[in-house]
Amino acid sequence: MQRRTMLGAAIALALSASAAFAANPIVIKFSHVVANDTPKGKAALYFKKLAEERTKGAVKVEVYPNSQLYKDKEEMEALQLGAIQMLAPSLAKFGPLGVKEFEAFDLPFIFDNYDELHKVTQGPVGASLLKKLESKGILGLAYWDNGFKQFSAKKPLKSPADFKGLKMRIQSSKVLDAQMRALGSIPQQMAFSEVYQGLQTGVVDGTENPASNFYTQKMHEVQPYLTLSNHGYLGYAVIVNKPFWDGLPPAVRAQLDSAMKDATKYANDIAKAENEGDIENVRKSGKTQIVNLTPAERAALKQALVPVHKQMADRIGEGLIQSIYKETG
Ligand code: LMR
Repeated sequence: MQRRTMLGAAIALALSASAAFAANPIVIKFSHVVANDTPKGKAALYFKKLAEERTKGAVKVEVYPNSQLYKDKEEMEALQLGAIQMLAPSLAKFGPLGVKEFEAFDLPFIFDNYDELHKVTQGPVGASLLKKLESKGILGLAYWDNGFKQFSAKKPLKSPADFKGLKMRIQSSKVLDAQMRALGSIPQQMAFSEVYQGLQTGVVDGTENPASNFYTQKMHEVQPYLTLSNHGYLGYAVIVNKPFWDGLPPAVRAQLDSAMKDATKYANDIAKAENEGDIENVRKSGKTQIVNLTPAERAALKQALVPVHKQMADRIGEGLIQSIYKETG
């Protein structure tokens, strides 16, 4: 009888503890700039599901997609200030924070495929890059893929000459600035949330993005040509406010780490197919013509763009570029 009472009391205590968790959970605000229906958007929601399940409601993850909460630049500041706890910015957006090395991922034609890229993101070079964030009060948890970028414009882009004089929207990366200049175009840095309107109103003539971003932002409505150039990579570092993460109860942090590990695998498993599917969606829209390059045309673009590696060596570090070449064989 007494044992029963004690058991009952223990159960009641456990229930009230989980009710207290649910009533007063630890909140992780996860802000991002793309649509839910993209590799990053889906992975963020998957992380939310796993994190809430595994912590049994002790953690609540609020995902804010589509720049609802913050645009590119503000979201970094908000993370450092602790107004939000988690982000997954493109690797092309860490320069303004003072971590220029991530711009190595923007070097045109540095990766031929996802396997080569994963040797870097899943190996020691990737880990050492994430470490560089710690002095900024940020912890890097993982790399999530999006994919290879395609050029788009109001005209078909096949050869370097086609880019001459075009205003091309870029992310905040000096490597991308150099890339567009190497083609004779004029780079214009612009927040992701402003790109559709920029293209629509003619503030810019063209841009580059993986197909998943192109399609889900409806850029096919305002860009009549999409060249399947696969000339560069766009992916993400999932980052958190370090004091917040370090202050979590260790058991909760372990559950979140395991949720992040599985969400990362999910993100990287779906990214390629998502982008291939969105190339088909663009094609089916009938609004944007898909431009395929011949091997010779792609080689000419590559020839024009590879000098950017040397040009940017001082900024990114020659040693880092060499170690990426080594990893990717
Ligand atoms: C862009 O600004 O083009 C991308 O970084 C958006 C994103 O997060 O994929």
